Amino acid sequence: MLLSKSDRVFALTGAGISAESGLATFRGSGGLWEGHSVEQVATPKAWDTDPALVWRFYSMRRRDAEAAEPNAAHFSLGKLEQKMGDRLFLCTQNVDDLHERGGSRNVHHMHGSLFESRCVKCNEPFPDRREYLETLPVCDTCGSPVRPHIVWFGEVPLAMDMIYEQLDQATVLLVVGTSGSVYPAAGFVHSARQRGIQTIYVGPEEPLNAASFHRIEIGTAAAVLPSLF
Ligand code: OAD
Ligand code: ZN
Repeated sequence: MLLSKSDRVFALTGAGISAESGLATFRGSGGLWEGHSVEQVATPKAWDTDPALVWRFYSMRRRDAEAAEPNAAHFSLGKLEQKMGDRLFLCTQNVDDLHERGGSRNVHHMHGSLFESRCVKCNEPFPDRREYLETLPVCDTCGSPVRPHIVWFGEVPLAMDMIYEQLDQATVLLVVGTSGSVYPAAGFVHSARQRGIQTIYVGPEEPLNAASFHRIEIGTAAAVLPSLF
């Protein structure tokens, strides 16, 4: 795909881009963790009923992400940013930090970040790489519980206004490794089509919203992305 100086790329990535780094996708692994569905541990209700279980889940995910390395797909988006600067907007549904470690400076984590936490009252996210397997963290300032800085099912993704502004300026929508099943991200391709911009999907199988894309590249992210642009 040839890009000109006037092109602006909106890239949306999902769990699939980190699959070749060894991080399980949500639906691929049967969506199960220790017998709980991911939906069961990633909701405000789960937090209200069993915060220790929720922290155990995210502590394990911190551990897995720390041990993982970025793959060729992360690196190629890092390189694309070097060439395009702010004409590339990278929006990820992933909470891992593999894009950053793959060289991307500017990443919007619409579903939050694994390596940040926030007090449920003060609401200010702060960097946090610790694992909470025994004692649960409380806020230094007010003593309230500290939760993962993750957007759970039923919560609103971060900075949706900014996302739609970027989508409005893009000339290409590139979607990588997401099943197209979780909204609002699954609907970005519909907004893009309404504006008539190019839309392309990269992944080993068709996403649920495949019919809305101009072009589908069947293949893994690490195999396809490095030679796509
Ligand atoms: P899913 O697990 O739903 O989908 C993963 C997608 O990655 C599938 O479409 C696979 O075909 C694709 N895939 C697998 N291996 C790949 C590879 N090597 N290269 C490229 N693609 C590959 O994950 P998401 O769509 O990211 O939300 O899930 C969306 C949201 O639902 C997540 O952000 C998370 C989840 O529950 C929250 O945590 C709020
Ligand atoms: Zn507080």
